Amino acid sequence: MKDKLLKEFRDYFHRDAENIFFCPGRVNLIGEHIDYNGGKVMPCAISKGTYLAVSKNKEKKIRFACLDFPEKANLHIQSSYSKTGKQWFNYPLGVINYLLQNGNEISGLDMMYAGDLPVGAGLSSSASIEVLTIFALNELFGLGIPKVDMAIASKKVENEFIGVSCGIMDQFAVAMGQMNKAILLDCESLKHEFIPFDTGEYVLLIVNSNKQRALADSKYNERFAECGKTLKNLKSELKIENLCDLDLKAFEMNQHLIESDILKKRARHVISENERVMQASDALKRGDINTFGLLMFVSHQSLKEWYEVSGVELDTIVDFSKNYKGCIGARMTGAGFGGCAIALVKNDLINDFSGQLIAYYKTTLGYEPTVFESGAADGVRAIRF
Ligand code: GLA
Repeated sequence: MKDKLLKEFRDYFHRDAENIFFCPGRVNLIGEHIDYNGGKVMPCAISKGTYLAVSKNKEKKIRFACLDFPEKANLHIQSSYSKTGKQWFNYPLGVINYLLQNGNEISGLDMMYAGDLPVGAGLSSSASIEVLTIFALNELFGLGIPKVDMAIASKKVENEFIGVSCGIMDQFAVAMGQMNKAILLDCESLKHEFIPFDTGEYVLLIVNSNKQRALADSKYNERFAECGKTLKNLKSELKIENLCDLDLKAFEMNQHLIESDILKKRARHVISENERVMQASDALKRGDINTFGLLMFVSHQSLKEWYEVSGVELDTIVDFSKNYKGCIGARMTGAGFGGCAIALVKNDLINDFSGQLIAYYKTTLGYEPTVFESGAADGVRAIRF
């Protein structure tokens, strides 16, 4: 990828790239739809991600190109930018806009992106390109931004420039990831802990359902709004700041405050999932990967039944995994409505599992999913060349 990017950069910009940076994607191991409810999540960065080859130019121009999309841009440096259509370069443009608006000086840049992360598959390709851009600009212009603040800024770009009301999990995971570690992140305080992700004789597989996440953004915003309403209902009598301030017992005692059955279901997922994250972290810490796997299955069930963000594609993958002897845990990961699932599969059965799953999925849905292996990987970084 690196050599291809360097060559394409030279062909397109007629000069050499001076720097290459890389930012991974992420999977969430457990703790789904929790980050915007002030609870704990447990993601990790993965090995696939987005690359950026970049050189400064003296022409006061920002030039964007990407190997994965045809659109290019050639923009004068301005004091601010606004989003244009649905182009891929809105993500780096949003980051540049954020930096300019916060008083940072930026000179001209020739930037070429390329990724090996499936786009729109729920592996945080957007967080990856945002954090990649702010990391690169921080290095190139010596802005002195700590990585946690890069994640916070990238989330802001996603919320305000792109218009998706996501939480902090994705940006945090791709910025802060560490090899072989899961990140236990408190999304309210941003306190975090790296827990060894020791899967023993099991391997983490990512299964891309290859179902386009067409409704994902609107449904995501709908769930976000539902949680806000539920919190408002509960706040009428309780002193809480977030849904995750309640444990299941307190929820049971106070659910009469919630105005509808749908909102009760949403809250039940959020509050039980937050408790599962703590159980999962305890299990990992004592090396009990079987319990961790079991919690993945329970998490999926809750996302399917209570939060209603799964779908036939993700359910097909998880149902198959449940019935496969060498798989100890599986669940959808990310926002849902298509995208990816993860599974813990015995290391000598990876090919067998993948082959059988692909055949089963194809018979059920008429097309194939894609399966690949990924451990927990390092976050955003410069690539030496
Ligand atoms: C998307 C969002 C995250 C998080 C997950 C669901 O990935 O970007 O902030 O809410 O969905 O857990």
